[in-house]
Amino acid sequence: MAILKIARMGHPVLLARAAEVEDVLAPDARRLLADMVETLKDAGGVGLAAPQVFASARLFIFYVPDSRGEAMPLTAVFNPVVTPLGGETELGWEGCLSIPGLRAAVPRYRQVRLTGLGIEGEALDLVLEGFAARVVQHEADHLDGVMYPMRMHDFRYFGFNEEVDRYPMALPEEIL
Ligand code: NI
Repeated sequence: MAILKIARMGHPVLLARAAEVEDVLAPDARRLLADMVETLKDAGGVGLAAPQVFASARLFIFYVPDSRGEAMPLTAVFNPVVTPLGGETELGWEGCLSIPGLRAAVPRYRQVRLTGLGIEGEALDLVLEGFAARVVQHEADHLDGVMYPMRMHDFRYFGFNEEVDRYPMALPEEIL
């Protein structure tokens, strides 16, 4: 296993559509997954998508810590499909390991269905809400070359972590 370098915004790998994973159990897919787990633990985020470690593969990993509502263990999803449930959206803060030091309020669907293949190639079918739904929308976007600033409507809610912590901003209920 290895800790991998994380691509930063501006690198074209983050703007490309990633390829389907043909064989989830193939040695290269297993190695990529193991390295991504190690990389995420080292980097300290809640999610990581394969293009962020320069791999064109439709794979992401994520977890939800206790502090963010209903905790979820580390989950790997190959060839994920995220489908909004209902049309309701909400603003929430998010960061990205490929945009270090910054944070923004990004509109996301409040509830989504996540399907794909799990860590051993088993079928996954989860309904997620709130922070978990936000994380999987963010990670699935990476597989289509979409970074969170491309989802933003209001750039006032975009700042450096230290400043956002120092000058907390209330987020509007209504998304314009
Ligand atoms: Ni990200």
